[in-house]
Amino acid sequence: MSYPYQIKSLEQYHQVYKESIEHPEKFWSDIAMHFRWKKHFDQVTSWNFKDPKVAWFQGGQLNITENCIDRWAEIQPDAPAIIWESNDPEEHHRILSFKELLFKVNQFAHVLKNNGAKKGDRICIYMPMVPELAIAVLACARIGAIHSVVFGGFSAQSIADRIIDAACNIVITADGGYRGNKEVPLKAVMDDALVRCDTVKRCIVLTRTRTPISMLKGRDCWWEDEIKKVETAGNPFCEAEAMDAEDPLFILYTSGSTGKPKGVVHACAGYMIYTNYTFVNVFQYQPGDIHFCTADIGWITGHSYIVYGPLSAGATSLMFEGIPTWPDAGRFWEIVDKYKVHILYTAPTAIRSLMSFGLDYIKDKNLSSLKVLGSVGEPINEEAWYWFHDHIGKGNCPIVDTWWQTETGGILISNLAGVTPSKPAHATLPLPGVQPILVDEQGNIIPGGDASQYQLPDATVSGNLCIKYPWPSIIRTTWGDHERCRTTYFSTYENLYFTGDGCLRDTDGNYRITGRVDDVLNVSGHRIGTAEVENAINMHTGVVESAIVGYPHDIKGQGIYAYVIFSGQLDDKNLVAQDINQTVSRIIGPIAKPDKIQFVSGLPKTRSGKIMRRILRKIAEGDTAHLGDTSTLLDPNIVEEIKLGRL
Ligand code: WTA
Repeated sequence: MSYPYQIKSLEQYHQVYKESIEHPEKFWSDIAMHFRWKKHFDQVTSWNFKDPKVAWFQGGQLNITENCIDRWAEIQPDAPAIIWESNDPEEHHRILSFKELLFKVNQFAHVLKNNGAKKGDRICIYMPMVPELAIAVLACARIGAIHSVVFGGFSAQSIADRIIDAACNIVITADGGYRGNKEVPLKAVMDDALVRCDTVKRCIVLTRTRTPISMLKGRDCWWEDEIKKVETAGNPFCEAEAMDAEDPLFILYTSGSTGKPKGVVHACAGYMIYTNYTFVNVFQYQPGDIHFCTADIGWITGHSYIVYGPLSAGATSLMFEGIPTWPDAGRFWEIVDKYKVHILYTAPTAIRSLMSFGLDYIKDKNLSSLKVLGSVGEPINEEAWYWFHDHIGKGNCPIVDTWWQTETGGILISNLAGVTPSKPAHATLPLPGVQPILVDEQGNIIPGGDASQYQLPDATVSGNLCIKYPWPSIIRTTWGDHERCRTTYFSTYENLYFTGDGCLRDTDGNYRITGRVDDVLNVSGHRIGTAEVENAINMHTGVVESAIVGYPHDIKGQGIYAYVIFSGQLDDKNLVAQDINQTVSRIIGPIAKPDKIQFVSGLPKTRSGKIMRRILRKIAEGDTAHLGDTSTLLDPNIVEEIKLGRL
């Protein structure tokens, strides 16, 4: 087994890149040949960014699970597809070969059908990081149901919003989950969510913690009981549904600058081909390698680089249920040592957190199996980059700094491990087929680096990052609201996809993503909309108004700083702040809790009533000397008060 489209040298990268820009259709069509189609496609792509309407491989039919499982079960049935490591180091690990994975996915696909699921239905999955989560996702794809995985840290309210938005008819959950020394009551949270969700007819519950839970007759059933019914019915094979290339594969909700999270929709064929291509090239995967992506399947990184990218390449994907610091800060290194991991793909926030524990947890671990390290989710600072490089990679492993988004489906800008050069804190060069463009606030293209002209800039430039031409896994729509997709991504700059990120480009054409330019925060690699958090805080009875900004945080990258106008009793500010945190946990989930809450008597507003976040941001960052012009404010005195009360 080898990957004919795996790029092997820098020279080849430049050549392939050039071809991919000059002849994108031929480029992607050649790659698409290496997949299993039920019906070949007629048209490689058709698109316009105005509506927007983007389609890839139209006329083609396929099922992603045949590409991820069946074809590998035929040629390497006993090769490990999924290795699972429990939260509890004492619990026995599990290994599923491609043959076993095929069997289990087919079984569960039958379970879904027996419970009324059909092609096109939306199924919400709220589960711990156990192999059954991957099985549930793949079983949905097998029968053509659209999965919407919700991260286990979201609240009942957030789950309900997502279920209602997509009108899901089935949900899949577990009694509970383990996270470090905590037990997460998944089914109880789901029960609270389901009170509001009358579209849901069935709730399938996996046994994990066996905590007492409520089971409602007619709606709730146990995963294991449903599997037994399938077993007694005989042959478990379940024919994979023929999906049109552009049929939706999944919805994944993500935060934006407005209050309500949006359901990003990805399509079957383009997503499969792009995640596979980037997996094989960025990580330089070799048959037999063990790929350990530490993300949760509740986020896009888990979808693309634990499940679909690796499995579609016949790779071995290691899935970990726990957290990096439990039972101690050596957990990742212990796993690398135990399974002889070759590729470790993690987030800067995890690296920074582990760095703070010192080197003791590393010294007795054998990390010599590692070949490639990867970073994702937020900018990686140089200190973390060097620590990762020196102490984990021992100076021998290239680090791929992979920039991408939920909306892009797969990695758009990254070095290719050991093939194209790395540069600390830089995502570096675009993947073949990807044409980044920097624009200024007015929408003027910043010259140099235009992929179609192969020009390099003559000085480092900075701008807003856009992409000029579609790649196969670009967002297709936001579920139920296409106009929102257009205004968010395709209307800021004409004929360009706007990423929401600020970016620098150096004289070698390397890109360095500097962070969001919209009202989205990146806290520990999680995307959080400021408006969403403000809405949640404002739900607290005593809160009149609030404003959220991000500030630099040593471990999380960004912390959440809340300015709150409070009308009630404030004798014990600490207690009220905790109440507000509880409210945010209930409304969104613990990941959105502010790190700091400052009570203020007013907010800096312009005469037209707009909150001047720039000023609040500066104060939160501690940069009170450079607040700029405050004379246009309705009440400039408020700035002084806020400065004095800074936490
Ligand atoms: C940020 C995660 C710098 C960026 C895959 C983007 C990064 C947002 C990087 C998407 C990186 C992701 N360097 N910033 N290598 N990777 N980001 O949708 O701001 O959870 O817009 O997707 O994370 O977050 P999302």
